[in-house]
Amino acid sequence: MRPALHIAPLLALPADIEELRIEAAGEGFRFVDKLITEWHSGTNRFAQAGEIFLGACRSDELIAIGGLNRDPYAGQAWIGRLRHLYVRKSERRSGVGSTLVRQLLRHAEGIFHLVRLRTGTREAAAFYVGLGFCPVQDKAATHVMLRRQSLGPSVQNLDLCSEGSSDLERRFASGGLSQLRANTRRIRT
Ligand SMILES: CC(C)(COP(=O)(O)OP(=O)(O)OC[C@H]1O[C@@H](n2cnc3c(N)ncnc32)[C@H](O)[C@@H]1OP(=O)(O)O)[C@@H](O)C(=O)NCCC(=O)NCCS
Repeated sequence: MRPALHIAPLLALPADIEELRIEAAGEGFRFVDKLITEWHSGTNRFAQAGEIFLGACRSDELIAIGGLNRDPYAGQAWIGRLRHLYVRKSERRSGVGSTLVRQLLRHAEGIFHLVRLRTGTREAAAFYVGLGFCPVQDKAATHVMLRRQSLGPSVQNLDLCSEGSSDLERRFASGGLSQLRANTRRIRT
């Protein structure tokens, strides 16, 4: 039987982040390099209000990472961004990525009403859609998820994936929460 999976917030980068970095770079993903550079320079340590960076370990070995930032491209405190999600190849397709993202989304509740991300691969896009994210056409994001629980019953029936969702995304990305609510009402009527 496989050793249990442990997920916990990382307040410092563990030494074996280097193994993830090498593996990710070998696959053409440079975002672990970026994570390490920005962490060491202090540019991004997932330390602003509402932010978190998680590490997943098996037998004390780091096998996956993922973080939740305040979205730096949105300029709105209520928009979060999933970043730097990476699962080691040997651990894929066994639920680790989903577990990490669900934990990050739980953390976002009540803080970020919209969570966005950008991915460049078809595989990751399928993964995020499977988790309930909607594809959008936006220069800062490829997928979004509206945290309905955070907004209350007025948006329970909103289908962000339906036609027109990217219009909605564009409109509320430049506005505030009240604008999002107003847009939502307009779309539902
Ligand atoms: C994308 C990634 C995080 C998925 O992690 P994972 O632990 O393998 O994901 P899960 O096991 O939780 O997958 C859940 C579901 O997502 C979908 N999925 C996951 N990987 C997929 C793939 N390569 N192709 C198609 N669907 C995929 C499947 O529906 C899967 O369920 P199933 O295995 O029962 O079919 C992982 O492949 C990865 O780290 N890739 C490289 C880095 C990357 O692309 N990161 C995202 C950058 S934004």
